[in-house]
This record gives sequence, C-alpha cells and structure tokens, in this order.
Amino acid sequence: MDNRPQWGTRAGFIMAAVGSAIGLGNIWRFPAVAYENGGGAFFLPYLFALLTAGIPLLIMEFTLGHKYRGSSPLSFARFRKNSEWLGWWQVAISFVIATYYAAIIAWSLSFAVFSFKQSWGSDPEGFFFGKYLKLAETPGDIGGIVPGVLIPIILVWIVTLGILIKGIKKGIEIANKIMIPTLVVLFLIIVVRALTLDGAAAGLDAFFKPDWSEIANPKVWVAAYGQIFFSLSIGFAIMVTYSSYLPKKTDISNNAFITGFANSGFELLAGIGVFAALGFMADQQGVPVNEVVGSGVGLAFIVFPKIISEFPAFNGFFGFAFFMCLTLAGLTSLISIVETFVAGIQDKFNVSRNKSVAVGGGLAAFISILFATKGGLYLLDSADYFINQFGIVLAGLAEVILVGWFAKELKTLQNHANSMSDIIIGSWWRICLGIITPIILGYMTIQNFITNFKTNYGDYPTAFIVYSGWAVAFAALIAGFILMKLKWKNNDVQAKVEKEVSI
Ligand code: ALA
Repeated sequence: MDNRPQWGTRAGFIMAAVGSAIGLGNIWRFPAVAYENGGGAFFLPYLFALLTAGIPLLIMEFTLGHKYRGSSPLSFARFRKNSEWLGWWQVAISFVIATYYAAIIAWSLSFAVFSFKQSWGSDPEGFFFGKYLKLAETPGDIGGIVPGVLIPIILVWIVTLGILIKGIKKGIEIANKIMIPTLVVLFLIIVVRALTLDGAAAGLDAFFKPDWSEIANPKVWVAAYGQIFFSLSIGFAIMVTYSSYLPKKTDISNNAFITGFANSGFELLAGIGVFAALGFMADQQGVPVNEVVGSGVGLAFIVFPKIISEFPAFNGFFGFAFFMCLTLAGLTSLISIVETFVAGIQDKFNVSRNKSVAVGGGLAAFISILFATKGGLYLLDSADYFINQFGIVLAGLAEVILVGWFAKELKTLQNHANSMSDIIIGSWWRICLGIITPIILGYMTIQNFITNFKTNYGDYPTAFIVYSGWAVAFAALIAGFILMKLKWKNNDVQAKVEKEVSI
C-alpha cells in the first residue's frame, strides 16, 4: 500500500472534499427540507447537527482514512478485525446512491439544454412527468426505457468514469479544481440576480421566518441530521476513501472545518437564492410564497422552469446556468460516490484502477438504466428515502458505536488528528461522538422504524416499498457481511487483517 496515490496539493484535497459535499443535496434538497421543517427554526437543529455530528464525524473519517490509508473496507479491516463489514456496508450504500444520483444529474443536463428554448412551454409539470419522464401510471410499473433520459445518463457515466480512470491527482483533483470554482461563480451570478428580482424579500421572509412550534417535533431533528449526513458526504465511505490519499504530513481538523463550513455556506446560499426566486414567482402570480413552494424533484424540475420562463430577461442564460450548477455540483459528488467502490474493489481484489472503474462503475451505470424507465421516478424516490433513513444514518450510528463504544478508540484517533492539525480538538469531540451523536441517532432510528412501520412512505403500496425501499437498504447491509467473508487478494493485507495489526 506504500504506492497508494496521493493528492497533488492540500488545496486539491480540500477542493475534492468540498466538491463531494456540495451536491444535489445542497441545491435540490436543502431549501425544501429547511422550509418544510420550521423555516428559520430549522437552523437550530441544523447547526446543532453540524457541530455535534457533522464536523466531528468528518474529523473522525478523515483520521481513519489517513491513519489506515485504505478505502473504507480496508481502513475498517485494519482498524479492527471483523469490522470490515462496516466499510463494505457504507460502500454498498454509495453504490445504490450512485445509480440514482446519476439519473438526477442526467435530468439536470437535459434541462440545461431545454432552457435555451424553454421547451417546457406553459405547462412545466406536464412536460416533466409526461413528455420528459413519460412517467408510468402506477408505482412498480417499469414500462420500458425512455431514450430521452437514457442518453444523458450514458453521458453522465462517460464523463464520471472518464475522470475516475485518470486517477486521483490527474482525474479527480483536476476535475474538482475546474468544476467547483465554475460552479461557485455561476451560482453567485444566479443568486445575485434572484435577490434583485421583485418579491425576493417576501421569499426570504418565508424562508427565514421561524416556526418555533416545530422545534420540539422529532421529525425536524431527524430531517436536520439526515440533511447533514447526506450533504456532508459522511457515513457512506466517501471521506474515509478521499483522506486515504492524503500525504503522511497533512492537516486533518482544519480541513474538516473548512469542508463543513464551505458546504453549509453553500447550502445557505442555495436556500437564499431559491427562496428569492420563489418570492419573485409568488409576486408575479399574486399569491403567497407558500403556494409556489415545491419539494425535491418538483422544486428543481417544475417550479424552477416556471420561474425561468417568467424571468424578465436572459431567460435562456439563467435557465442554463441554474441547471448547469445542478449538473456540476452533482458530478463532483458522483465522482466521490463512485470512487468509494472503485477504491474498495481495487484494494480487496488487487486489480488495476482501469479494471475496477470498468467493473464497479460499469455495473452501477448498468443498474442506473432502471431509472431511465417509465417507472424510474417511483423507484428513485423510494430507494433515495430508504437508503438515507436506513442506510446512511444507520451506518453512521454503527460507525460511532463501533469506534467509540466497542473499540474505545476515540482517544487514539483524537491524538492522531491532533498530532498533525492546526486546530487541536478537545474532549468535546469525544463527548459529541461518544455520547450525543449515538443517543440522538439511536432515538432517531427508533422513531424512524416506528413511523415507517405505521405508514407507508409516500403512500406507496406495501409490496412496492418492500422491494424498492426496505430490501434495497437491507441488501446493502447484507452485502457488507458477504464481502467481508471474501479473502483479500492482496496477501499482505490478508495477513495483516488476520493478525489484527493496526498500522
Ligand atoms: N454530499 C452530496 C450531496 O449533497 C452527496 O448531494
């Protein structure tokens, strides 16, 4: 493992970590999640989750990757005998996410092109569900492939795998160094324009106005933690993998703070931009802001096209810029998501990078064709919900319990991080990871199980959510154990794993 590739520069690593964190979650998910969960009042649980779980876990994952210098499965195998499953579980979660994440980027790419002529016409809703996705009537009805979605999905995979094949320094690092600054500049142009539109202030007012009655609702806290995990790319193998390419001498804690604050800063910016634009639309239609807000898919692909059509000038440019922002933010995250299994396969089976990109990336690309079918949107919605609630969050909980309670290694990791960081972390870090985070995540998980046993997510039929949601989330966990049972093709690693040597 001594010839493990490395980032070229510290800025390169930070750019890649920030690129991973800033993704669809920031633009496509955050504004709606914040609005639905108390608006301004959401910032309290959100900040709490960021400071007690987000950044502390990021420091822990950076430390694990740096200390054990491996993909997530290899790092956990080296950390403790028999904990390799956790690494594979997280990798499997990433695999699932990669398959549908690519589809959303593909829609964004299509809509960037549609923006020039505002092809959605006067009925963006009918256009998105009907003309573009050709959505089937009932969930579970696959109904054949939609070429208009398949082609951009193929393009997204060609770009992603093309970058990954080039490796860490020449591929991922360079791609992020180009895409992230482009994204930030484009996004700032959009936000500044949105803020100067009529009605922007009313939009911001709706976004920030706190609804304190929501603060005691556990649902709001679940949403805050879920958002932080997904958005910061923690709990699904990414940050362990990326930090395994750090040089021996590096910084850990400061890098984690930079990544965490950059991500949340961008998220806030996205919320401001989106709500300023919503305020404009409400103003145009003479209705209150709450009547124009949509969530998730609807917000980006139905409400935004409407807003773009109503823009006073340069509609084509602003539409293109918005959907290109989604595409770029998505691509830099997808690259990191796929890198988790590319690195895992490479480490475990001792194969070349080309082979592992072709096999791992190729398989994920093939499965993502499911989301180019007429029933794709239902599958995506269900898989996304379950892999978040019973994948990422649960794997994050398992991670803090394993490291803090079973292995009791928080102190060792703290010392490792402190020995090379500008910012020295104190016992607050161990309290956050050893006590606060497990309690809150544990409580959340119980609540989540109860809610989901009582009512079917999205009112979908039971059979449908069983195979497209529950089974997907739990297959990831089972995959973790199965992959752990396979022998390491790298004899060196196998010997070390068997002897439980930590390096
Ligand atoms: N962190 C990535 C996002 O926010 C996965 O979309």
